[in-house]
Amino acid sequence: METPEAMKVPIYMDNAATTPVDPRVLEAMLPYFTTEFGNAASKSHVFGWRAEEAVEAARAEVAALIGATAREMVFTSGATESNNLALKGAAQFLAPRGKHLVTCQTEHKAVLDSMHALERQGFEVTYLPVARDGRLDPGDVARALRPDTTLVSVMHANNEVGVLHPVEEIGRITRERGVLFHTDAVQSAGKVPFDVEKVGADLVSLSAHKLYGPKGVGALYVRRKPRARLIAQMDGGGHERGHRSGTLNVPGIVGMGKACAIAQAELPAESARLLALRERLRAGIERRVERATVNGSLTHRLPGNLNVSFACVEGEALMLAMKDVAVSSGSACTSASLEPSYVLRALGVPDELAHASLRFGLGRFNTEEEVDHVVELLAQKVQKLRDMSPLWDMVKAGIDPSTVQWADNA
Ligand SMILES: Cc1ncc(COP(=O)(O)O)c(C=O)c1O
Repeated sequence: METPEAMKVPIYMDNAATTPVDPRVLEAMLPYFTTEFGNAASKSHVFGWRAEEAVEAARAEVAALIGATAREMVFTSGATESNNLALKGAAQFLAPRGKHLVTCQTEHKAVLDSMHALERQGFEVTYLPVARDGRLDPGDVARALRPDTTLVSVMHANNEVGVLHPVEEIGRITRERGVLFHTDAVQSAGKVPFDVEKVGADLVSLSAHKLYGPKGVGALYVRRKPRARLIAQMDGGGHERGHRSGTLNVPGIVGMGKACAIAQAELPAESARLLALRERLRAGIERRVERATVNGSLTHRLPGNLNVSFACVEGEALMLAMKDVAVSSGSACTSASLEPSYVLRALGVPDELAHASLRFGLGRFNTEEEVDHVVELLAQKVQKLRDMSPLWDMVKAGIDPSTVQWADNA
């Protein structure tokens, strides 16, 4: 298929993995690499004061995006670090009170692997399942709480299927029971409204590179009233009120602040635009490709996410066939492995359909023309791959391949 002349290829539709830095963000950052290069911790001269001023302005911008106060934001190197600090820091601080933690099976690896590390330190962790639509039942959270539970961690939006969890209900339950609530809002912040007061969250992880800011910078919200206490995981000069030592990444922090301010100002219009693009993509696939199924709830979902399984087509093969379109067949961090996605498995998606899935992550710079082009490409390439697939012949003949008894040639 010809690429229309005006369209720039490759087309980027993997905005859940990362986003480009918005030119307005880059412009705000640039002086902090050169003329404004001071160390924000240098108290004795104007270079340090100016860097500190920029960091504090950015702190207020990041806080405003989630309805927090500037004093509650701790800058980190990204959400992997924020999740580690939140979970290990809170669990270890509260260990004298209890050593039981609750999370969800579809969390990002930065949460799951932090929990595994805590298990090795003697904590007990309950991993709650999700329903077919990918959502966690808040009743399951309530039932999992025990007298020795100190912390619940449930993400706001899932990175693979874009499903939004009922965090407000979960926050009410944890507040009532005196348990800390951490939420990983990396995928949702700046995309859909999120307010720490409405959610009742005590700890919230954010990452700049998912919202058109730079890579290598993130933040952790740490509630002050009532105070969430943490044991620092990085010891040193006592930066960030002792929560996270290390010289601050001033240009990165300035970029994160600008990215959050833009996301907040543009959120209502941009989320409506992305939803319209997403629905255009979904309607196009529905019209042009048979046996394509959306994974995860469509009503409780990020506007820019679509995760689709194309029966009898390998996701990896389809991605190769569409080499001018950047999408992903699972979480960016684990797509190097051939294991079917643990998130799709947790939703009850059969392995063959999990292998047949693609994640589309629409973002600020995608257009209707790009969506239409991708639909046409998908229709063509899926058909081509199915024409070569004996499984597709069976499906067309009304046979369910999962019920077939294959001969054992081993
Ligand atoms: C839900 C979620 N949490 C955490 C992370 C890790 O963020 P970072 O890349 O800033 O370490 C990601 C990024 O893939 C994510 O999608």
